[in-house]
Amino acid sequence: MNYNKKNVTQVDVKGKKVLLRCDFNVPQDKKTGEIKDDKRIRAALPTIQYLLDNGAAVIACSHLGKPEPSFDKWVKKQTEKGKDPAELTEAKWQKALDALRMEPVAERLSQLLGKPVILASDVIGPDAKAKAAALQPGQIMLLQNTRFEKGETKNDPAVAKAMADMAELYVSDAFGTVHRAHASTVGVADYLPAVSGFLIGKELSIMGKALADPARPFVAILGGAKVSDKIAVIENLLTKADKIIIGGGMAYTFIKAQGHEVGDSLLEEDKVEFAQKMIADAKAKGVELLLPVDTVVAKEFAAAAESKTVPSDSIPAGWQGLDIGEKTREAFAAAVKGAGTIVWNGPMGVFEFDKFAEGTRAVARAVAGSGAVSIIGGGDSAAAVEQLGFADKITHISTGGGASLEFLEGKELPGVAALQDA
Ligand code: 3PG
Repeated sequence: MNYNKKNVTQVDVKGKKVLLRCDFNVPQDKKTGEIKDDKRIRAALPTIQYLLDNGAAVIACSHLGKPEPSFDKWVKKQTEKGKDPAELTEAKWQKALDALRMEPVAERLSQLLGKPVILASDVIGPDAKAKAAALQPGQIMLLQNTRFEKGETKNDPAVAKAMADMAELYVSDAFGTVHRAHASTVGVADYLPAVSGFLIGKELSIMGKALADPARPFVAILGGAKVSDKIAVIENLLTKADKIIIGGGMAYTFIKAQGHEVGDSLLEEDKVEFAQKMIADAKAKGVELLLPVDTVVAKEFAAAAESKTVPSDSIPAGWQGLDIGEKTREAFAAAVKGAGTIVWNGPMGVFEFDKFAEGTRAVARAVAGSGAVSIIGGGDSAAAVEQLGFADKITHISTGGGASLEFLEGKELPGVAALQDA
């Protein structure tokens, strides 16, 4: 796949209305709606500022969460989740939608830019159209949540065209959403010249170089709950990395694959064979595969659970692994030392519980102190590195969770493929 895309600096933006797709899908406080982490909004600022400074009128847009724009489908989904259909009123559905309106994003964006952000009350409706038509160079407006439009996630051409009709140029800077082929990420490019913003450019060049031409040794650290989420990543990295470190919940399926019992730890029985194959493939390819040698096990999945450290080949029945043990932390830290490139995706344990955050903390410390080009895939591992205070010592923390994972899998990203080549 060609990642060398035409950039916003390579087109004329002066006096143009620019539809700018961002990923403003930020975590919010469930009760107050307050934005808990504005990293994704800040990450879009360089492109927004460039466009405004160069005489463009910016029509920004993004999704927020996963709203269900059809009442009937919302009822169906809630019923599947076990909710009583009798209680699923239109008022409740509307409340669920209202919780995902863009007002908090517009407010934070306005604070960060130090200028007003005009907010439309719809996406492609009369308010958005009128506000877009009246927008002047140097001004910015924000459309409502793109997923309020029924056709958005289906990449409905009518929705894409209506969005495109408001503008003369499409700029995508929504790296976190480039793995989604939606109307606002892919469809619009059928109707407008489509180029990339600075964030997409940065994400693609740093991660692209790590995969295509890494400074060696190239060490991949993979964690998180499930092997099934990382199958394609492991397969792809086995062809590129010098060492692969496996921790987190997914490690127990590998420990089982080595012939050991894992007690009540997370286990994907149907992935044991895959894990065996990966262990064999790593050996055949000369890739060093490091698995936990000791494990912090707990009696239950709880912040204050009774715990102890045991060898990973002797996890007792009735106990579950929640973190890597001290010997493993040392071994993983030693494996990271001297690395040229490190790519890390997925925590080493249940870092949300302080008692079981030590493994993730030790690996974060080792990565931060390694001197290597260090890249953290978004999602949980980014949250862990930030929460544990190592973010400023990391070369690049991706703003994409699913998107960075699919990038590491070597998959084509539809939101990137849709942009013009440089
Ligand atoms: C993300 O948070 O990973 C992106 O914004 C994509 O969101 P989605 O998984 O709801 O498509």
